[in-house]
Amino acid sequence: MSQTVELIYEGKSYTYPIKEGTENEKAIDISKLRDETGLITMDVGYKNTGSTYSSITFLDGEQGILRYRGYDIEELAEKATFLEVSYLLIFGDLPTQSQLSHFEEQIKAHSLPPEGIVKMLDHIPSEAHPMGVVAALVSALTAFYPKSWDLSVNKDEIMPTIYRLIGMMPVLAAMCYKNSMKAPKIMPNPKYDYCSNFLNMMFSTPGILYTPYPVVAQALDKLLILHADHEQNCSTSTVRTVGSSQAGLYSCISAGISALWGKSHGGANQEVIEMLEQIKADGGNVAKYVEMAKDKNNSFRLMGFGHRVYKNFDPRAKIIKKAADEVLGKLGISDPTLEIAKKLEEIALKDEYFISRKLFPNVDFYSGIIYRALGIPVEMFTLMFAIGRLPGWIAQWKEMIEQKQAIVRPRQIYIGPKQRAFVPLAERK
Ligand code: SDX
Repeated sequence: MSQTVELIYEGKSYTYPIKEGTENEKAIDISKLRDETGLITMDVGYKNTGSTYSSITFLDGEQGILRYRGYDIEELAEKATFLEVSYLLIFGDLPTQSQLSHFEEQIKAHSLPPEGIVKMLDHIPSEAHPMGVVAALVSALTAFYPKSWDLSVNKDEIMPTIYRLIGMMPVLAAMCYKNSMKAPKIMPNPKYDYCSNFLNMMFSTPGILYTPYPVVAQALDKLLILHADHEQNCSTSTVRTVGSSQAGLYSCISAGISALWGKSHGGANQEVIEMLEQIKADGGNVAKYVEMAKDKNNSFRLMGFGHRVYKNFDPRAKIIKKAADEVLGKLGISDPTLEIAKKLEEIALKDEYFISRKLFPNVDFYSGIIYRALGIPVEMFTLMFAIGRLPGWIAQWKEMIEQKQAIVRPRQIYIGPKQRAFVPLAERK
């Protein structure tokens, strides 16, 4: 017998069903609330509101659990590759060898952006932030693949669009970097695996081939896995919202990139490194910055700390912190900002302000330290997050389309002026 809740309103009783997921999460299904009572719910920022039923990612913020399609993030980060995890997220199961080989081959075959897109970069200022540039270029792909605009009709265009997005994103990212350096672009090289190819396009120059070290490519692959999906976060909800209007997939992903750019979301990884550098330049006075973060009159926040859902350690932060030690050790790099980050974490986690608000390091707190050790410039950090999150966005969009979800259209409570008569211009004071 499924549970219900009773609402008593204006002397009348209303009953609403409790829906329960496979991990015992429960929600009140209020889909009939307004029709029956005239009421809506109000939950600014949707802190207590579910937007969909999904089989892709499960996270338990209290326990610090994260699973993609039932597999623990710790196992996937240790034992799988990013493209294997991308396949898992998009299609629901780990691929067989032949499925993975076909997926990898198709991505390689669809990774060269149209010449018109590459030429657009020649007109983009070198100092432009890569997130804004790639959001624009991904949206512009619709112009070169017009059938992709209506995938509800052109269903045979869905997979080529998915292959192009996963194949082209790292190419566009590397080309953005070359554009910022006013350096010649390097084309993808099919002999490399996904991450080595990205590193090659980033750091090779004509005539001088960059030899990707396995430890660097493996560290990057792990970071991409850790960022691949995170249920209904801000940018994923954006992708689903845009997709719910039947907009094309390139437009949805472009919107997701733009949402991720914000410093409260994916933009935090760049802010963390800039914060750590500021603390280093200020003599490493960590306690001073912890106090600033606690001061309500100070806009300073401990970037990379806190999370809407995790009220325990973000499991990804634990894995990245361990990987940072490993990668820097193997590369023989000593980065003082890593020590500052550890000190910041140590002090904050003993401080009542952070303890009472359950503020822990999140995925962005240590990731920038590894990106920097791999030679990736800080302006590219959030774009690395976008490359990682792309298969998750695609999987969530695909699920929403398959669920035939109605267009997203929340309600509101109006608090503006009541009806008033128009005042002619000449009479306004
Ligand atoms: C990501 O949703 C996802 O899954 C996102 C993500 C993903 O994979 O997609 O995990 C990726 O976006 C991680 C978060 C990256 N952002 C940051 O690191 C920016 C710093 N963090 C904060 O801005 C904040 O913690 C958020 C935005 C992450 C969460 O904000 P909430 O849930 O709206 O919480 P809140 O702002 O209401 O904070 C609750 C309290 C407040 O204090 P009080 O008003 O109760 O006194 O905690 C305080 C906040 O002032 N607080 C912080 C803080 N984060 C929250 N105080 C100092 N430093 C911080 N970082």
